[in-house]
Amino acid sequence: MSERPPIVRRVLCPGSFDPVTNGHLDIISRAARLYDEVVVAVFVNQSKSSMFSVDERREMLLEATAGYGNVQIDTFQGLVVDYCRSHDIPVIVKGMRAVSDFDYELQMAQMNRGLAGVDTLFMPTNPEYSFLASSLVKEIAKWGGDVSALVPAHVLKRLIERTGAPG
Ligand code: PNS
Repeated sequence: MSERPPIVRRVLCPGSFDPVTNGHLDIISRAARLYDEVVVAVFVNQSKSSMFSVDERREMLLEATAGYGNVQIDTFQGLVVDYCRSHDIPVIVKGMRAVSDFDYELQMAQMNRGLAGVDTLFMPTNPEYSFLASSLVKEIAKWGGDVSALVPAHVLKRLIERTGAPG
């Protein structure tokens, strides 16, 4: 009997990451423990106005995940399922913060499964981060609020530089 080739378990964590937060990193690090390869891709979302360019977001993710040997960072404009197809990724991992995330995430998951047979696995966010969103971090930072517990230090530095707020 011929031996089966080893299965590489590769997963996609898609998002806007504008900017990456400790909540995102919680999900990415847990996915990195469960899968052989984790691809974190910054998707361009034209319906959202962003604080950081796609390249800046990529740089922040690169720095934040530098300690993980099996995490790659990429950027993409287009459908998540097209990215999955062209990179041979069968599964998307998404963090689920609260029930309020559920409707939209379920709709996307079912659409992605219908479009291309790509499955989505939901990972409950660490309760410590269940309120955390990049949009809130940006708003608080703009008004000089303290977000140092919510993002890595290098992201905090960029937020302070970008907003001109005292930090
Ligand atoms: O961090 P976000 O903004 O919640 O991420 C949303 C993201 C990037 C996952 C979503 O906007 C997305 O899937 N964009 C790619 C376009 C796409 O595939 N749309 C169809 C979804 S069914």
